[in-house]
Amino acid sequence: MEIDRRAFIASLGGTAAVAAMDSEAKADALEHYMEEQLNDQVAQQGGQPEKFPTVAEIEAQIETRNVRRGAGSLFASGRGNVKKLQPMPKNATLLDFFKLRFDPANHVLQSATRAMKTGMSEEIILACLCHDVVLNLIKPDHGWWGAQLFEPYVPEKTTFAIRYHQTLRFYPDPEAGYEYPDQYYRIFGTDYTPPPHIEATYKMLKNHKWYMEPRLVTVNDLYAFDPNAKVSIEPFMDIVGRHFKQPKEGLGMDNSPSAHMWRTIANPDSPL
Ligand SMILES: [Fe+2]
Ligand SMILES: [Fe+2]
Repeated sequence: MEIDRRAFIASLGGTAAVAAMDSEAKADALEHYMEEQLNDQVAQQGGQPEKFPTVAEIEAQIETRNVRRGAGSLFASGRGNVKKLQPMPKNATLLDFFKLRFDPANHVLQSATRAMKTGMSEEIILACLCHDVVLNLIKPDHGWWGAQLFEPYVPEKTTFAIRYHQTLRFYPDPEAGYEYPDQYYRIFGTDYTPPPHIEATYKMLKNHKWYMEPRLVTVNDLYAFDPNAKVSIEPFMDIVGRHFKQPKEGLGMDNSPSAHMWRTIANPDSPL
């Protein structure tokens, strides 16, 4: 796709605004811009809907890549070479991880912002803030990995919401305000059906007293892709302070069941 450089820079607020962004934020902004352009082009084509791939077409792409699709974004940027990471401080906090390893974290911040604006519980706002950050480490089964990463530090309902939002994203619930996302036709294929463990999990969740906890994460997830949204972690620091049990030794150093996961996120360049 051809990019009009001047229009792109203007959409970000001009050259000064672009100069203040780090390379990852710029790459992210470019991706969003291209998505918007693509949508505009589709609209210009007489409203013809985007043609989504099939499962077989997606599978055929596997051997065109030099990295597996499930590698976390700290390991495979998907946009050329990875960049050198700043070292983590001693006694690293959740905020340090957000600033140094999860940045720009735009998607989860937008999701948590929406949850806050719509008056959801603090457990859900925290779940929205944390629900996808494990994608920096690994992508398949990210609900389960993410819940495990946070479980020692957050309320049980927050862990439950993180673990199962991945399952509920495959199942629409229009009454709750959640439709099956186009994004899933794009990344899984139009004829995709969830594997048996996801279907079994959905059956369990349907009758669970906490069904709405992960459901509300999916409701906020759907609307969390606005390229123009200005978000930051600061409005959530009070909720993090109240509900996130920050270990005094620092995340990764407290010998919790998920400490090794935090260390791996801190040091993804370690060879062993
Ligand atoms: Fe997710
Ligand atoms: Fe998400």
